[in-house]
Parts: sequence; C-alpha cells; structure tokens
Amino acid sequence: MSDTKRSTWGSSATFILAAIGSAVGLGNAWRFPNLAAKHGGGAFLLVYLAAMLIIGIPLLMMEISIGRRMRAGAPGALRGLNKKFEPIGWAATSNAFVIVTYYAVVFAWVIMMAVFSFKFFNMTGNVDAASGLFQNLTKTTFTIKGFDTISIPVLLCLLAAWASVYYCIRNGTKSVEKIIKYLIFLPFLCLGFMAVKGITMPGAMDGLKAFFIPDFSALSDPALWIDAVGQVFYSMSVVMAIMIAYGSFLDDSSNIARDGFIIAFSDLSVSILSGIVMFTTMYGTNLQDMLAEKSGVALAFIVYPTAIVNLSNSGVFNAIFAFIFYFCLCTLAIDSAFSLVEGISTAVSDKFEIDRKKTTIALCIVAGIISLIYVSGGGLAILDIVDKWCNSFTLILVGVVETVAIGWFYKTKIIVDDINRNSKKIKMPKSWFDTAVKVVAPISLGILFVWNIIDLFTNEKTKGIYGMADGYNLLSNILAGWAVFLLCMISGFIINAIYKKIAAKKQKNEK
Ligand code: PHE
Repeated sequence: MSDTKRSTWGSSATFILAAIGSAVGLGNAWRFPNLAAKHGGGAFLLVYLAAMLIIGIPLLMMEISIGRRMRAGAPGALRGLNKKFEPIGWAATSNAFVIVTYYAVVFAWVIMMAVFSFKFFNMTGNVDAASGLFQNLTKTTFTIKGFDTISIPVLLCLLAAWASVYYCIRNGTKSVEKIIKYLIFLPFLCLGFMAVKGITMPGAMDGLKAFFIPDFSALSDPALWIDAVGQVFYSMSVVMAIMIAYGSFLDDSSNIARDGFIIAFSDLSVSILSGIVMFTTMYGTNLQDMLAEKSGVALAFIVYPTAIVNLSNSGVFNAIFAFIFYFCLCTLAIDSAFSLVEGISTAVSDKFEIDRKKTTIALCIVAGIISLIYVSGGGLAILDIVDKWCNSFTLILVGVVETVAIGWFYKTKIIVDDINRNSKKIKMPKSWFDTAVKVVAPISLGILFVWNIIDLFTNEKTKGIYGMADGYNLLSNILAGWAVFLLCMISGFIINAIYKKIAAKKQKNEK
C-alpha cells in the first residue's frame, strides 16, 4: 500500500462537499418521499431521524476515521485493523461495483428525460402521453423479455453518463475538487425553485401536513422501521466502500466529529426539501394517491411526469419545470455515481498497486460494458432485481459483518478517540458510539436481513420469487439476484487468490 503519492483533499470543505455529494443522490429525491408517503409522513421522518442519529452518524464517522487512519480504501483499511477483516471490505467494494453498473443507467435515464423535456411543451393536461414518455423512450417491456431490442437514446445517454463520471474523477481528488461546488449548489437551487412552485399551489398545505404531521398509528407497522433503517444506510452511502476511501484522502488535522454531523444533516435537509417538492406538487395536482403507490423509479419517471403536465396551463412553463426537475436529478446522480467509482478504484489501486488513473479508466470501461445489459427492453426488470438484492441483502449483510467485526473484535476506543481527536466542541460520546456499533447496528441490520428473506419467501405476491406478479421468473432471480449476492460475499477470497498468484509470478520472474 504505497502511500507516498496518495492525493489528498485540498481543504476540509472539499471533503465535506464530496461526501455530501455522495450521500445526497437519487435516494433523497424519490426514495425518501416515496417511503414517507407509504409510512405515515411525519412518523417516518421521526424514525428516520432517530435511526440516523443512533446508528447512521456513528457508522459514518467510523468509516471516515478508519479510512483516514489506515490511508487505504475499504479492503486495505479493514485489513489494517485486522488481517481477517479484508474480505469484508471487498464485499462492500464488489457491491459498490454492481450498484454503479445500474446507477449509471438510472443516471442515463435522467439525462434522457432532461434532454427530451421539451416534449412536455405540448402535453399540457395529457396524462397518458406524459406517463408513457419514459416507456416510449426506453422501449422497456417491464418484464424479463425483449433483450434483443435496444434503446438508442438510452444508449447515447449512457455514454454521456459514463463520460461525465470519468471526466469528474479523471484526476482523483484534484478534479473532484473543481466540480463539486457546482454539483452541490445546483440541486439546492433547482429544488428551491420547485418548492416555491409547489408551495404556492392550491392543496399544498394538505401536502405539507401529510408530509410533516406524524400519523402515529403507522409506528406499529414493522415495515416502517425496516424501511427507515434501510434508507439511512442507503442515503448516507455507508458500508459501500465510499466513505472509507474518501476518508483516506483526508489529512490528520481534519475534524471528523464535526464533519460527520454536517454531512448527515445536509443529507437529511435535501431529503426533506425533496419531500416538500414531491408532496406539494403531487397534492397540488391532485395526484396524492400515487405518491405511495409505486416504487421510487416509477414515481420519478411515470407518475411525476403526469404531475408536471398538470402544473399549469402553460406548456412552456411545464416544459421548463420538467427540465429543471430532471436536470436537478442529473446533478444529484453524478456525484453519487462517481463516488462509487472512486471507492472501487481506491480499493483496487491500493491492493494491486496500479496507477489510479489507469484503474479508473479500466473500471469505467468494464462497468460501462456491463451496464449495457440494462439498456435492452428487459433491462428495467433486471435492474429491479439486481437493485433489490444489492440493497436488501448484500448491503445489509455486509453491514452486519462489518459492525460485528469492528465492534467486537477491535478496540472501539481507538476509533472514538481518533474521531474526536481534533474536535473541541462537538464530540462523539464513547457510550453512544459503542452502543451503535456493537449493539444497535448489528441487531437492527440483522433483523432487517432476516425480515427481507422471510418477506421474500412468505409474501403472497412473491412466494420466493421476487417480482413474480410482474412475470419475473426463478432463473432471473438466481442469476441477477442470488448469484450476484454470493459472488459479492466471497469476492475477497477470490481477489486474494488472484493477488497471491500474481505475487508468486512476480517473484518467479525476479529470480
Ligand atoms: N446515497 C445515494 C442516494 O441517496 C445513493 C448511493 C448509494 C450513492 C450508494 C452511492 C452509493 O441516492
């Protein structure tokens, strides 16, 4: 793990912005409002806030701290704590790799919708045309059929997505630094504009009430708790190899305790702002029942367009609003997408001592080729399956193993001291940290994992096959779900075997 040339963040502000950029993503824009609508508005907000404070923040600080201390990406940093921990880092890294292959495609979809937003110009009031736009452009079948058709607009946008991801990280922290301030500022501007429009619509008050006032009866539904904890992890980009890698570019004087809080609360504030936008515009256009109905993806691409064409009688305004909405999603998606690549490329280049730039290019090309799977007619269904396993199984299980390993087989005092080292005012109390890492995180994630498995096998709609109601079959679940999950979990052992082979070869050649 050569460290001499490791690049570092130019300032602590850049690090904070980059970490916020990773955390704030499409999950804030549509997943959060969608879950809040499903689970009694303010009730979900409260549980989310509690889960963020109790487990999200300690874990975020923990990852940044071990990255900084070990000066390595996830596998190397975990190996630094204990040799046996390295495979956990690879499992997280591999999961990040799988995620980026489809996150790039979702990014491509939002680029495409931004490009075609002019179509909203003459769709005023035409709900069918608006909700069908996405399907027309992507040529998706919503089932695992139609792999022989490819959507050219999506393909071109995917190319643009990968090119822009590569452009932002071509020189690691140096190039991220140049672009990140715009990527953080623009979504706020766009969301602010949309919130103003939303709040001034008739019915907006009902939307705000539904979003903020807790329906306490929703608290008795275990699904609310499960979804809130899952969303905290997803949204804060922890257990994804990212925060460890970003921490590894920090210098020793950085204040992790303070930065952790800033990152977490900025992430939360974007979620809340997005919630205000979604709830007010959906209530304002009388489409509130659709908010909770479908998944986040459907909300953004199928349901929301119908709200857009009902915003006003002016086609021009609606089209501009559509552009701002999808452009905003682009700025949210790009820094999350490149943070995934950064996490992976840091891990790989640390381990194999390959030049960072070459690793990044190779990664973008390989992941880019794999992402072509999702561009076909059956792509959306495959994406749905892969996403389900990545977030409901791999991410959660890796979270359990990581927190148990660090909480129980490493001295947490060392980590807390390191987190608080440069902070005078804000400190992470050791009792809080210990309770989170040793007890609450492993137990809640463990419950989540078991719950997800039980749900998959006992749910009337699935009966063991995810998406059965939509025509997904067992084979698709095995290939895109279980096999990928298994591969991620054992990836550390495979990579170490390869590493040993290469090292042995090198030694032989040297002799
Ligand atoms: N945190 C991002 C969001 O809320 C998603 C993400 C997950 C980004 C994993 C990177 C890694 O959308």
